[in-house]
Amino acid sequence: MTTTHDPYTPTPGDRFTFGLWTVGWRALDLFGDPTREPLDPARGVAELARLGAYGVTFHDNDVFPFDADGAERERHIARFRKALDEHGLVVPMATTNLFTHPVFKDGAFTANDRDVRRFALRKVMANVDLAAELGARTYVCWGGREGAESGAAKDVRAALDRYKEAFDILTSYVRDQDYPLRFALEPKPNEPRGDLLLPTIGHALAFIEALEHPELVGLNPEVGHEEMAGLNFAHGLAQALWHGKLFHVDLNGQNGPRFDQDLRFGAGNARGAFWVVDILENGGYDGPRHFDFKPPRTEDDAGVWESARGCMRNYLILREKVRAFRADPEVHEALRAARVDELAQPTLAAGEDLRSLRDEETDVAALASRGMAYERLDQLALEHLYGVR
Ligand code: GCO
Ligand code: MN
Ligand code: MN
Repeated sequence: MTTTHDPYTPTPGDRFTFGLWTVGWRALDLFGDPTREPLDPARGVAELARLGAYGVTFHDNDVFPFDADGAERERHIARFRKALDEHGLVVPMATTNLFTHPVFKDGAFTANDRDVRRFALRKVMANVDLAAELGARTYVCWGGREGAESGAAKDVRAALDRYKEAFDILTSYVRDQDYPLRFALEPKPNEPRGDLLLPTIGHALAFIEALEHPELVGLNPEVGHEEMAGLNFAHGLAQALWHGKLFHVDLNGQNGPRFDQDLRFGAGNARGAFWVVDILENGGYDGPRHFDFKPPRTEDDAGVWESARGCMRNYLILREKVRAFRADPEVHEALRAARVDELAQPTLAAGEDLRSLRDEETDVAALASRGMAYERLDQLALEHLYGVR
């Protein structure tokens, strides 16, 4: 008997992880009630393990309720831990819910109300302790409601002072506790606030350099968030890698600038997704492939797991296509024709002084007439993506 192995069936070695809140989303939206029942985190763990995932991530209140007392909190955590052990899933990342409860209506670390800021810091520190206990290496901070709808209400420069203060406090905390944790900021341009602080990868990278411990803070960029701003996500990942700041990633699908669609990975901008997988596989990223998506409101329980399965399958399908593209001899030739390797050569020769550059004569007309042959190269990529090569 021969068994055929489906090459798009994930295994833990592929290191796919999911937020508990993704498959657990009850599909409550601005216009309608939830269409699904709450998901028991222990069942979420079991189903994700069955599908071939490697780990799960969580907000504090995905595991225990906001108003749980000490004993109730411990009970929920124990149940979650038991499911992790039983099904062999790990927790590489954790995060804090600083956006659902009305107390966070004006944000958390940058709320005008100082008491809210103090409460938010305590909430994060408590969950950082839990994250470290569960073996997480990354602590994600999505701004949630850090932002504004109106002009005068938020002094952006003061808000950035407080944002910095929060990370200076949190990084000293993990240093003092000797936790092997690093923070990863997650930029988003808008939603739920009209305008969010740290709206893009670039804003967040600049902010990190102003912190007391920049080495402990990097990024968790999300496909949909950059594409909501019309930006090229693969380019954003490449720049984050260039700065040594790609600590984690949120993979999902988006169709251009509109509300945060959170489609399953690979649905949405498929051509963009091809280059996202290319940079993640070939650009030096070694963290988990984390999905932050929302199974659409139309789906029942079975549809939720189908949608999670689709995220991983699409990643593996694209990974295979990217590998075939990178191994294709015609692509190698097209890359040479496009002089892609020449960009790795420094513009000045070693030891060359500026005088020799200034004395050089250039035939500008000849230079201007050289074609770049990019269309051939890109067509080869598209043909791999479209499945005809
Ligand atoms: C969103 C965000 C969140 C965060 C999550 C982890 O747009 O809702 O992407 O899903 O990733 O809160 O911090
Ligand atoms: Mn999102
Ligand atoms: Mn996200």
